[in-house]
Amino acid sequence: MTTPAELAVHHTDLDEHELAHLQRLQGSWGVLADLSFSDLLLLATVERSGGSHLVVIGQMRPTTNSTLMSADLVGHMLAAEDWPMAATALASGAVTTGTAPVPEPLALRTPLSNSDPAETGEVPAVPEDARFECVPVSHGGRTVALLVSVSALESRRRTGRLERIYRDLYSRLAAMVASGVYPFEGDDVSGEDTPRVGDGLVVIGSQGRITYASPNAMNALHRMGVSAAVEGRTLNELGVEETAVDRSLASGRPVIEEVERRPDVIALVHCTPLLADGAVTGVMVLLRDVTDLRRLDRLLLSKDAAIREVHHRVKNNLQTIYSLLSLQARRLDPGEAQDALHEAGRRVRSIAVVHEVLSREPGDQVPFAEIVDALIRMARDSVVSAHQVQISVTGDLGDLAAETATPLSLVLAELLQNAVEHAFEAAAAAEPGEIVGHVDLVLTREGDRLHVEVRDDGSGLPDDFDIERTRSLGLSIVRDLVTSQLGGRIAMESRSGTLVALDVPVHLDDR
Ligand SMILES: Nc1ncnc2c1ncn2[C@@H]1O[C@H](COP(=O)(O)OP(=O)(O)OP(=O)(O)O)[C@@H](O)[C@H]1O
Ligand SMILES: [Mg+2]
Repeated sequence: MTTPAELAVHHTDLDEHELAHLQRLQGSWGVLADLSFSDLLLLATVERSGGSHLVVIGQMRPTTNSTLMSADLVGHMLAAEDWPMAATALASGAVTTGTAPVPEPLALRTPLSNSDPAETGEVPAVPEDARFECVPVSHGGRTVALLVSVSALESRRRTGRLERIYRDLYSRLAAMVASGVYPFEGDDVSGEDTPRVGDGLVVIGSQGRITYASPNAMNALHRMGVSAAVEGRTLNELGVEETAVDRSLASGRPVIEEVERRPDVIALVHCTPLLADGAVTGVMVLLRDVTDLRRLDRLLLSKDAAIREVHHRVKNNLQTIYSLLSLQARRLDPGEAQDALHEAGRRVRSIAVVHEVLSREPGDQVPFAEIVDALIRMARDSVVSAHQVQISVTGDLGDLAAETATPLSLVLAELLQNAVEHAFEAAAAAEPGEIVGHVDLVLTREGDRLHVEVRDDGSGLPDDFDIERTRSLGLSIVRDLVTSQLGGRIAMESRSGTLVALDVPVHLDDR
């Protein structure tokens, strides 16, 4: 699918600054659609062999009125001569209004009937007339596109105060679009929090006094503790300590501010100065009560904290189990049962290590290097006899998702344990403190694959060894974790000692 921006790039001769200007317009033109109670189209000119064409590069619907154009018109193209009004506005650079039939390629449904042809089985009739206002979008002294508002003829009968004020604001902003000052350069208003007209609109005169506040703006002001009549007063007089309006009036630039009134009400104040012939004639303020949004943000933060707390408790519980197992092991006579309990305790502890790291890091990404350090310490400590095994690490796997980090750390715990436990059995008679062997852990991350090697310079694997057929517990756990949980591969061979190689994908979700 082509985006509006790509459409403009491929079909027109606009340069990057002009395209950026159009993108800014599309970031804030929801407000224009709302204020004009009409559908908006953004058109650019394309020169084709058959003559000048107009291509629709953007479309916006009002939230204050029902749409006349239910179809997606972006990408539609029509010959300039089929829409003389638009062609004239583009050529003259002047705002042009008038009534005309909706041009054929754009009339994808009967414009003024509310019945859906798909529902009623009606064939769309010949389009009726609609009212168009064509505003040339100017940038750097050149007309770069055309902003067309399309409204039904009968909608003109709405003439309440709110409608008059909105339409007046729209005209002032449209004049700013035509003279190239709106949208403001460097004003990045497109974002999830951007207020729209329905959130609350306040119009401020050149002296900073409120000339109009919409019903929703009144609600927001009430929540902020304003109970007096607002018209004719300044926001400061009403006790709303904000500086955005004054700054916007003084600088002629847009200003966004978050105002916190009482600890529990937060409002986003978005000021757009209204300019006419270079002078600031007022400010349009969009007011949005963002209290609930901010509360959600805070909840999310505390949810992160709660998750970390859970990990912390799981770790504590696992450590308790580990202690219980060790206690019980100590009560037994040395032998198989005692070893089994020690082993079980060790496995529990390697899970605890992971939870310990998770309990510290926000999000579910784990710096794997920290886990590796803990695992190596554990393997080193578990060497029962007096001799020593030197363990070294090369490389790093970076940050890993918990889903990968947890099984991978269990695997490494088993492999390291095997190396220190089995590879150097022959050297059990060595002098106390003597280094009898080395274990190397090599970690590499290549694109979205993780490579892990555990090698030792010990006795090597038993002759008849086969990882696929082994029934012993430790390596069965390793095999299952690597192949089914991690979706990876494992290879083991004797090569002047034992070499275990793992190949595991970073992302598990595509399995
Ligand atoms: N690095 C190694 N060097 C030499 N032999 C090894 C090595 N790793 C594994 N082995 C051999 O493979 C066997 C199976 O290992 P596995 O981890 O499955 O069981 P285990 O270590 O004996 O018992 P546990 O279930 O407690 O881990 C070991 O008994 C040992 O003989
Ligand atoms: Mg083992």
